[in-house]
Parts: sequence; C-alpha cells; structure tokens
Amino acid sequence: MGEDEISTLLGKLDLPRKVRLLTGASTWRTHAEPAVGLAALTLSDGPAGVRGPAWDERSPSVLLPCASALAAAWDEPLVERLGALLAAEARRKGVHVVLAPTLNLHRSPLGGRHFECFAEDPELAGRTGAALIRGLQENGVAAAAKHYTANDAETDRLTVDVRVGERALREVYLAPFEAAVEAGVRLVMAGYNAVDGVTMTQSPLLAQPLKGAWGFDGVVVSDWGAARSVTAAAAAATDLVMPGPEGPWGEALVAAVRSGAVPESAVDDKVRRLLRLAGRVGALDPVAERPQSAPAPGAGQSGAALLRTAVAAGTVLLENRGVLPLDPAALRSLAVIGAHAAAPRAQGGGSAGVFPYPSDSPLDAVRLALPATVDVLHAAGPAVHPPAPVGLDGIEALDCRDPRTGRPGVRLRVLDGDGAELHTEYRLSGRLLEPPLPPGAHTLEVTALVRPTVAGEWTWGVGGFGRLELTVGDATLVDGEFPAATDDPALLHVSPPCRYGRIRLPAGRPVRVAARRRLDPGAGRAVLLTAAPPAPDPAAAIAEAVRAARAADAAVVCVGTTEESECEGRDRTGLVLPGPQDALVEAVAAANPRTAVVVTAGGPVELPWRTRAGAVLLGWFPGQEGGAGLADVLLGRAEPGGRLPTTWPARLADAPVTATAPRAGRLSYDEGLHIGHRAWLRRQGPPPAYWFGHGLGYTAWAYEESAVQGPAGAGGPHRATAFTVRVRLRNTGARAGREVVQVYLARPGSAVERPVRWFAGYAAVRAAAGAAVTAEVPVPWRALRHWSPQEGRWRWEPGRYEVLIGPSAGRIALSDAVRLRCPS
Ligand code: BGC
Repeated sequence: MGEDEISTLLGKLDLPRKVRLLTGASTWRTHAEPAVGLAALTLSDGPAGVRGPAWDERSPSVLLPCASALAAAWDEPLVERLGALLAAEARRKGVHVVLAPTLNLHRSPLGGRHFECFAEDPELAGRTGAALIRGLQENGVAAAAKHYTANDAETDRLTVDVRVGERALREVYLAPFEAAVEAGVRLVMAGYNAVDGVTMTQSPLLAQPLKGAWGFDGVVVSDWGAARSVTAAAAAATDLVMPGPEGPWGEALVAAVRSGAVPESAVDDKVRRLLRLAGRVGALDPVAERPQSAPAPGAGQSGAALLRTAVAAGTVLLENRGVLPLDPAALRSLAVIGAHAAAPRAQGGGSAGVFPYPSDSPLDAVRLALPATVDVLHAAGPAVHPPAPVGLDGIEALDCRDPRTGRPGVRLRVLDGDGAELHTEYRLSGRLLEPPLPPGAHTLEVTALVRPTVAGEWTWGVGGFGRLELTVGDATLVDGEFPAATDDPALLHVSPPCRYGRIRLPAGRPVRVAARRRLDPGAGRAVLLTAAPPAPDPAAAIAEAVRAARAADAAVVCVGTTEESECEGRDRTGLVLPGPQDALVEAVAAANPRTAVVVTAGGPVELPWRTRAGAVLLGWFPGQEGGAGLADVLLGRAEPGGRLPTTWPARLADAPVTATAPRAGRLSYDEGLHIGHRAWLRRQGPPPAYWFGHGLGYTAWAYEESAVQGPAGAGGPHRATAFTVRVRLRNTGARAGREVVQVYLARPGSAVERPVRWFAGYAAVRAAAGAAVTAEVPVPWRALRHWSPQEGRWRWEPGRYEVLIGPSAGRIALSDAVRLRCPS
C-alpha cells in the first residue's frame, strides 16, 4: 500500500470517523472501518508467548524462555527464529501485533520485570531486541518495542518521574529503541512513567528523536491506560490509545480539533500511521484477511525442538567443579531435589504471562532421559511455592472437579445482585482473568469438588478485589471487604492478591469449595481459587533431601524464585531465595560433593553457597521446554551456551545501583552512564559474584592473539562497522564448544565522561577440542560515539581507544588499540 493510496483512504473519512480509530474498540482490538476496508487489528502480549485475544486457559500458547534467557544466548540468529515462532503463534491466534520486545534495561537487580527485559547493556539489549523484531516482522506480524523510555522499575510505575541526564538518556536508555527503529519496528509503546516531568504519552521524546531524527514511521501506542489527556497526548506524538472503548480521546478529541486546540493534521498523521500499519499486517484491502487457524506449533515437533535448543543455549553455567555434565553411563543413582524439580516456574508474572502447553518438569525430563538402570530418587524439600490455582496448573495432591459435570476442572458462575445465575461454564483452571460479564453481572463464583490425597492442614485462597468469600465444606475461611488499593492494571487484572484461610482435611473425602468475588467498579474482574497442600516440616524435608543426596551418586537441586517475586506491577524487596532454599542447598551440597544446583529466576538472586556447590546452573524462566532442555544440559547432550546479560551481585548490599522507589515522585538515575558492569568497574568495592558476559560452557578456551582492522575515518554511520577485531582462540578443553568473544572499549584521559570500559561488540565461534578458530568481532561506529548535550548531536572524540578482549567484562584476556582521526 503506497502513501498515495493511504492519502486517498484518509480523504474518505470525516473527523469523527478518524478519531474513532485512534482509541481501541476493546481491551485488545482496534476499530474496523469498512468505509476504507480496514479490519480490526488484534494486539496481544508478549514477549514470552502470544496470549491471543483473551486470557483463557482453554487456548494455550507456546511459551519461550524469558527475555533475559534469550539475551543470555548471545545468538541473534536463534532469537530471530524464536521471533518467527512467535509470529506463527500470532497468526494462529489471529493476532496482528505482538506487544514485544521489552527494551527497558536491568538497571537495578530489584526491578520487578527484570525477566522480561534483555540485559543491563544497551548494545546487547538492542541487538537481541532487533533480532526478535526481525523474526516477528519478516513473518507478517508487527512488533511493538516497549516501554519507551526509562521504564526500568515498577514502584509507582504509573506516576514515577524519572530524572535522567541527557547523555545517559541517549547513550543508554534510548539506544535499544534506536536499534529497534533501525530494525524497522512497526510500533513503539509509550510507557506509564514520566521522564523529566512529562508523562511519556505526552513526551517531546516521541517527536524527537523517535519520529524525527530516527524516522520512525509506525504507530506510537500508549501503554494500557497510560494516555491521560486530550490535548497534550493528541498534540504530542501518541497515535493510538489503548485499551478502549473508553479513553480520554473520542468526543473530547473531536471537540479539541474543532476548537483549534489540536490541529486536524495531527489526527491525520495518526490515522495515516494506523492505516500504514494495517497495510503492513494484511488488515487493509485489497489484502484478504489472513487465515486464523494454522497448526499449533506448541504441539508441533519443530517448535518444541527449537525451544529446547533455546533452553540450553541460554542456560548459564556459573560454576563447575568437575560435576557437570553428568555421565549417564557412570551413574547408578541420581537425587533430584527441591520444590522447583517437580513444580518448576516457567515464566515471570504479569502481562507477559500465558497459559502454556503442558510440559515435562525437570524431574520428569531427567527420568525420561536417563537409562532405566539409573535410580532417580526424588525429595521435594521444603515447600516454597505460594498456593497455586486449582485445576489445570496442577496441585499433585488434589483431585479437582467441576461439581456439575464431574470433569477435571472448575465451574464458573456469574450471578446477578440477587444471586440468580446469569451465566455458567466449565473451566479448566481456578485462575479466571477475563470471565464473561453479561449485563447485570454482580458476583463471580468459582466452585470445585476437591478430593485431597494428603491429609492435614490445607491452605485455600480467593483472589481478586472487593467483597471476597471462601468456603470449604461448611467452613467459611474468608469473608470480608478488600477494596482495590491500586489502579495498576497488572495488579487489578492479572495478579490480584489472594486472601487465605487454613483448614484440616482428611485424605480421600470429597469436599465442595467455593470462591466468590463481587464486581465493584474499577476493581477489575479477575477471580482466583488457589490451594496449597499441608506443608512438611522444613527441617524434616531438608533431612529427607540429605538422605536422598547421600544415597545417590550425584544430586541436582532445583531452587528459584516464586510467584511472590519477579512480577510486573511491583519491584522485588530482596534477592534472597524464598523459604529455606539456601539451607536446603547448603545441606545437600555438604552431603554430596557431586551436587549441581539449578537456579530458576529471571534476575539476580543471592547464592551464598555458590563456592560450596559442585556446579551452579542458571536456567532463568525457561519456558515450556525447560525440563527437556535442562536434562540435555545436565547429561551433556547440549552445552550450557549462556553468558550473563547482566552482572550478578554476591549480595544486594554490594550492588552499585539498586534504587527503584521514587522519592517525592522522582526516581533519579544519578549514576548517569554507569549502570551494570560499568558501575561495578567504577566503584571501589566488593566485586560482583559474576560479571556481565560470564558463563563457563563445557570446554575451556585460550585467547591467543588479536589484530584490529580499521578504523578508517573520524566517525561514520552509527550502524556501520568502524573496525573489526580478529581474535584467535583455541579450544583447550576435551569437547567441542561455543565461545562468546567480547570486545570492550576504554578511553583513559578522555575529555568527556566515560565508563571505565564499555561493551562494544561480540562474536560467537565454535571449535572442536584442541582446534583454533578466529572470531571476527565487528565494532560499530555507535560504540565509539558520545552525545553532546551542548551541540545536541553525536560526536566522535579523536584519539586512542583501548580495545579489551575477553570472556566477560571482568576478565580481559587480550588488549589492543585503535585510533580515531581528527575530523577534517
Ligand atoms: C504493561 C504492558 C502490556 C500492557 C497490555 C501493561 O500494564 O505495562 O507491557 O503490554 O499492559 O497487557
């Protein structure tokens, strides 16, 4: 669709019709406009899967490893293929726009959405994000880079005013978005936060550099509920207000144009962008509507195989004292221990969440992968997970059925103010986020006939806001008013809190459980029925784990964060693993020196036992193939290919940048350019546990020699290669492997402020045991530039730059230098 044709279509629409298109028709859809052949566009989160037009457990989604795991692969072609898999999912679910990638940075380890962002470093985040965008968009689905910009923490995220200096803004926080625009991203999402006093949907940063200097010709969509004004957001460069149908624009924007407060040309530009987007995703005539049903890649072999490869590729081997890989031929028994072994956490919480396909736990996968001659001993360890939704998500010790039909699942009823049933349906899960709401809906009720297989004190929960009730048999466990104390959509609609009660139940006897919530205006409509079996005594559970570890040739302990942390809408309060997991690892590692610890987390956690464990693997939130991918790594069928995309503190107290809570509404990025490894290098203090770039793999490498080719000139196009670093290295280990060769730059004596050293580029190479290989690392001109606030443009400082080469930001193996000429 050419620009002239778009102008013709635009000319067919009067002002109210144009304005109507600029606010969503519903939570996830835009309006159709038959007069110009425009179909409704469906938008859906991302980034770890495509949920589809509704939160519905009956429509599962393929689940990728979380974003930090993807960045940990340092493998853009792989991420591109995963983007293509997301595109296939989007097409299958009739989705035109996937709300991904998340391009905010790992600024503080406490960031609640850390798992959803790629890295601490703008270059790595930008490159990984661009790969995901290419994979999505080359397959006919639009990506939306979010959240523009400096939206790196969750505390007071709807109102926080981020204060960030101009250089840090340009060189650090905007840089990944610049890379996304270069990759042709179709949409950019304006965040909830403000930068320098202006909320992002009204920010001048949308006009410059986004739509101006960068030439972004796509759609700026508001984050859900982030557009708050008529004139300011409309006159600024926000194009599409989501969700709808309510919102600040509509009639008010028509009136503002008629009164001259907003020029009609601003509205025309927005509609033009929307039509352009529709043309690009096949939602504008004469392109026929795309087929909505394609085979589910989740069920298909190729999708699952790719995801399994991705799990191993992103898994980071942090420590290894000769324990991994395990040799199945030499094993007679293996203890698999910990709450995450049988009930792993595959994804972080919030809008990124999907209802995944069922998949193997680490315990299942290890059992499947080992020969029958190996005895797998399982000890669950102390309970750490909060109560889980009943039904689909599975609580092993509970048989849960719809009381009306007896089928596995629950019964949802929608009641009017008198308690009469307006609607009812059979559902698979006790987590109902978008239940149908017929007119007159007043109360939601979830009931189940449950039969515990374990006797003891069970915990039950009802989730949501407003009046809540929970009954188990004849007992009322919760009955009270819990008004919504937030207007954050993630907390209202996705992860509302649960209220709990406890009751002793015998094993084997069916009991009826009912959770009810009243639907109050502004309080969301999610309702949850959750449960947890009687928790074993923690000391006894650890003792049982120790017995299993002692009895086995080797042990694998699966630990991690839980739903209570690492969730959109709130930041973390600490980095300690929940519950007695540290004590569990200490005890098991002391009982068996051949203990490998598998950490499931989207962001840093403290690992106080890390030097006492035989091996430590960081598996992130690995997605649906987490179990199978982990088994591949443990048994050496695949190398743990990951390298850290973010620096891990040994203790939270050591981290140089931690603040996520605004003071008097403001969050100041006082560290300027120095986040991540840059901050650790600058600060005189305890070193981190693991540097950005660290990851051991299953072989060893010697960095032998380097040579630099270029640069010619004094500066150049930002994306173009300024110089290439050729690095010869040798695989000195006993098996073939892949190494990520990293290049950092430093400029001692610079006339402008600089990081001690900063990441500039990488290349991955493979080599057989004993073989030498040459890595060619291209370093783009943008790695050498700095923003001049005085001149309002990019500059290159002439002179000598150190070129530092190594396997992490903290380990430099070779050094070289380049010289930039003076501009003529
Ligand atoms: C999140 C976005 C998400 C949107 C729609 C917001 O609360 O910040 O990342 O795309 O909701 O679910």
